[in-house]
Amino acid sequence: MNQINSRISEYTKEINQADFRNAEELETFRIRFLGTRGILKALFAGMKDIPVPERKAYGQLLNELKALAEEKFANARSVLDTPRSSPQRGDLTLPGTAPPPGSRHPLSIVHARIISIFEKLGFGVAEGPEIEDDWHNFTALNMPADHPARDMQDTFYLSRDPDLLLRTHTSSVQVRIMEQGKLPIRIICPGRVYRNETVSARANCFFHQVEGLYIDQQVSFADLKGTLYYFVQQMFDPVPAIRFRPSYFPFTEPSAEMDISCLICQGIGCPVCKQTGWVEILGCGMVHPRVLDHCGIDSGQFSGYAFGMGTERITMLKYGISDLRLFAQNDLRFLRQFAGTY
Ligand code: DAH
Repeated sequence: MNQINSRISEYTKEINQADFRNAEELETFRIRFLGTRGILKALFAGMKDIPVPERKAYGQLLNELKALAEEKFANARSVLDTPRSSPQRGDLTLPGTAPPPGSRHPLSIVHARIISIFEKLGFGVAEGPEIEDDWHNFTALNMPADHPARDMQDTFYLSRDPDLLLRTHTSSVQVRIMEQGKLPIRIICPGRVYRNETVSARANCFFHQVEGLYIDQQVSFADLKGTLYYFVQQMFDPVPAIRFRPSYFPFTEPSAEMDISCLICQGIGCPVCKQTGWVEILGCGMVHPRVLDHCGIDSGQFSGYAFGMGTERITMLKYGISDLRLFAQNDLRFLRQFAGTY
């Protein structure tokens, strides 16, 4: 009886674990267990050799085994019989589902727009490294080691020797282009910059700028103003009012900052413009003769202007975005709103 019982439990296990990839495998199973010359037939036939006292219990075991095999067979049959076009399996003849189209990041959209505006004025695009040295980020721009203006830019320093830092502005690219010595120069440099700032709705530890540089003979402040007026007209719709304020940068003389009337509140006053009706979008000025000298350009013969604008600020004004952190969070609900914009 022990031997018979252990055979039955092995069969039970085999039936429970059976898995069928197709109708042939299921048919093999049926013949093995339920066929006219199958295992169950043989087991039932053997009943007559079982001693009478045990025969009833044995018969019950066999009935259970048979029910198990029949149930397994019926279930597998119904799965395999389910037509392929039924919802459970999907209709393989239908065309595939197209992945949803992505969208450009709003900062990329605005960079592309700025580039296309300045390209029409004859500006080319230049790029420089995000890991910079002290010379290109500070010293060449008329900010020697002890210059107080360095404090305005909370710098991430990487190493002292070699001296490396994360660039705090794209003005470093100006220096690299001027050092190449090909004149005249008419370029813009879009890129990412880094500052050790506390992250808030108005500031992040990295952001983007577009630097502009124009060096030639007899370049004037009027050229600078004309270029920036044109830029604002092309960039914003409706076109905001513009004002220049005198300012200070070590690398320009004279220096100015340019404000536009707040596009969020139409100049009435709101948190974005701090109730002034005006928002600063860039710094600019005539390139300081000492910067030209540092880069090997004859400041007696050549002059030029430069400007640096904040891409996030311009993007926020253009699209009415009130929190700078949204640009770096990769929240698809935010990014998808720019689908179809280039
Ligand atoms: N580099 C300045 C900043 O990050 C912006 C700037 C001001 C750039 C005046 C310029 C400039 O080229 O002429 O705050």
